[in-house]
Amino acid sequence: MPKKIRLGILGGGGDSLIGVLHRVAAYINDNYEIVAAVFSPLHQDSLDFAKQIDLPVNRVYSDFETLIAEELKLPQEERIQVCSVQTPNFLHFPMAKKLLENGFHVICEKPMTMTYEEAKMLQEAHRQSGKVFALTHTYTGYPMARQMREMIKNGELGRIHKVDARYYQGWINPIIHDEAKRASVWRLDPKKAGISSCMGDIGVHAFNMLEFTTGLKVRSLLCDFNYMYDDNPMDVDGTVLVRMDKHVKGVIRASQVATGEENGLAIRIYGEKGGFVWEQENPNFLYYFTEGQPLQVYKPGHPYNSELSLDGTKLPPGHPEGIFDAMANIYLGAAKAIRGEVYDAGEFPTMEDGVRGMHFIESTVHSHQQGNVWIDLD
Ligand SMILES: NC(=O)c1ccc[n+]([C@@H]2O[C@H](COP(=O)([O-])OP(=O)(O)OC[C@H]3O[C@@H](n4cnc5c(N)ncnc54)[C@H](O)[C@@H]3O)[C@@H](O)[C@H]2O)c1
Repeated sequence: MPKKIRLGILGGGGDSLIGVLHRVAAYINDNYEIVAAVFSPLHQDSLDFAKQIDLPVNRVYSDFETLIAEELKLPQEERIQVCSVQTPNFLHFPMAKKLLENGFHVICEKPMTMTYEEAKMLQEAHRQSGKVFALTHTYTGYPMARQMREMIKNGELGRIHKVDARYYQGWINPIIHDEAKRASVWRLDPKKAGISSCMGDIGVHAFNMLEFTTGLKVRSLLCDFNYMYDDNPMDVDGTVLVRMDKHVKGVIRASQVATGEENGLAIRIYGEKGGFVWEQENPNFLYYFTEGQPLQVYKPGHPYNSELSLDGTKLPPGHPEGIFDAMANIYLGAAKAIRGEVYDAGEFPTMEDGVRGMHFIESTVHSHQQGNVWIDLD
């Protein structure tokens, strides 16, 4: 039985949204052990949180540079092998780059960096390091998202006609109309979030899901944003027309002011033989339309599913698995790569997905700013 992989954590403290998801996901398949961390910019807060979750404090450091320096002093068989970056966006690039340059594998939150330029620099650092880099576009870890990918790959929809990825949230509605409140949120601060709020935070998930499920790349786009207030520099709503490989056309719709919506990510893909509808808030139901036949509903864990989908299911059918399990599947794929085991390309999003995501985000901003013009992606 191989030993557990030694995991470090940056960000994801007790006050964070995403920290608990990563910590639970890392433990779900028994592959990782958290041994070191910087949970907060304040050392005392990091130490307090470590005590709260029973993590020994001797490897809870004041900042990420100290974590790297001190871990390198430890014998190889003790030091962290991989570090998970769960901080606000502006810290992903400096943290991930330094980790890779010092020989650590990286699991990183999205959006990968602040700019496309940074993304390409990180890609180069990754290439030189030869280490594993996994990007946590969590939704690709759902068994039914994986099933869509495999069935489309097998030609079950035939030629694709139309793609529609929607991610609607409403949480910025109670914030955006109050000047003081909107100044207090890091996702609306370009210095901390990057040049886009809505497309950078959630539109990029929709973009990633379209490329993940269809296997096609977005080649050009046209975007229209809504900023709501003149003094707000960050989009809070946007609609993007996309043209993909093989003349496939479609739309990405994202909003943080869709009042009442929670995490309304929905993927619709239609082809000549049939179509798929999948919704993140009911992730265990994949609706499969076929020309002239009754609607079919695919569910996880049944032998009719693909190997990639079944690999992401742990319990017999009918025991709902959710977002923790989806993230755990990404950690599982990364663990296989770290151990040098065979894994499927669909098991975790990579550096290439991160670079494409940053190109997408920047292109939506440029398209809007230049008067809603078409922009080509590489
Ligand atoms: N994959 C997903 O579906 C998903 C969902 C939510 C958030 N995210 C991403 O996760 C990241 C964090 O988002 P969040 O909502 O948890 O943010 P958050 O503001 O809730 O938490 C950020 C955490 O980082 C810590 N932190 C800040 N500066 C730090 C530093 N210098 N060193 C160490 N820790 C530091 C804070 O103390 C806090 O614990 C963002 O990049 C976001 O885009 C991804």
